[in-house]
Amino acid sequence: MTPAVYSAAMSEEPSVATPATDPYALAQEAGRAVLDRFGVGRVDAWFVLGSGWSAAAEDLGEPVGRCPLGDLPGFSAPAVRGHGGELVVLRNDRGTVIAVSTGRTHFYEGRGVAPVVHGVRTAAAAGARTLLLTNGCGGLNRAWPPGTTVLLRDHLNLTGATPLVGPTFIDMSEAYAGRLRELARSVDPGLPEGVYAQFHGPQFETPAEVQMAGRLGADLVGMSTALETIAAREAGLDVLAISLVTNLAAGVSATHLSHQEVLDAGVEAAPRLRTLLAGIAAAL
Ligand code: HPA
Repeated sequence: MTPAVYSAAMSEEPSVATPATDPYALAQEAGRAVLDRFGVGRVDAWFVLGSGWSAAAEDLGEPVGRCPLGDLPGFSAPAVRGHGGELVVLRNDRGTVIAVSTGRTHFYEGRGVAPVVHGVRTAAAAGARTLLLTNGCGGLNRAWPPGTTVLLRDHLNLTGATPLVGPTFIDMSEAYAGRLRELARSVDPGLPEGVYAQFHGPQFETPAEVQMAGRLGADLVGMSTALETIAAREAGLDVLAISLVTNLAAGVSATHLSHQEVLDAGVEAAPRLRTLLAGIAAAL
């Protein structure tokens, strides 16, 4: 499906606002590149491992292969320390092929929305039906200390942006599939559920912004996931999203926030995250 709105402008001078390449065509190319490179007929599930989660990419199944994300069409090396930058392909005991990408492009990199959702569209192009998004985030609920993992029940897209262009009226009533949340809870029955608010970033929120998000219904604040989920629903992927609370959000905790704190929480939680992901990967 290639909306006409993405086609290159037919003028001699390329328009600044028109993407040089159709993002859907680029994702098709990347999807084919994944299948060719790893010699698989299709990918069944695609995992995106965000802040704190990268170390959990190992041991999720029998390895098929791995490559730098930057080797694939349309992907670039990650901009953020601690955000990985590889695609690992593996097969679980049931024969399910899972592609795990460590790192993602964030909206705050200023390259627009299409690069942010390129991985999701590539997943769909490679045949995936299931998408697992993970992230590190700030928590509003004091009962969920840093290190808590939370299933996303819903999101607030506070970025003011969308990956969709034109009259693409996607139903978002159940953005995060109940069936997959049940599957995750069959692996870890104690997983709580919450609402995630995506801010533009890259600055962390002010305490007033965190309070606003809380009054709007958010339990978690972060800088990813919602835009990817919108693109995933457009592509027909079922989405499971899991947040790692790396810190209490600004104003909820008495201390100031730092990126180092976010990284440290990921390192500390890594063994538990790996167990959780391995359980989910085995059940797909
Ligand atoms: N806010 C936004 N993004 C984040 C946070 C936060 O507090 N922690 C980790 N990612």
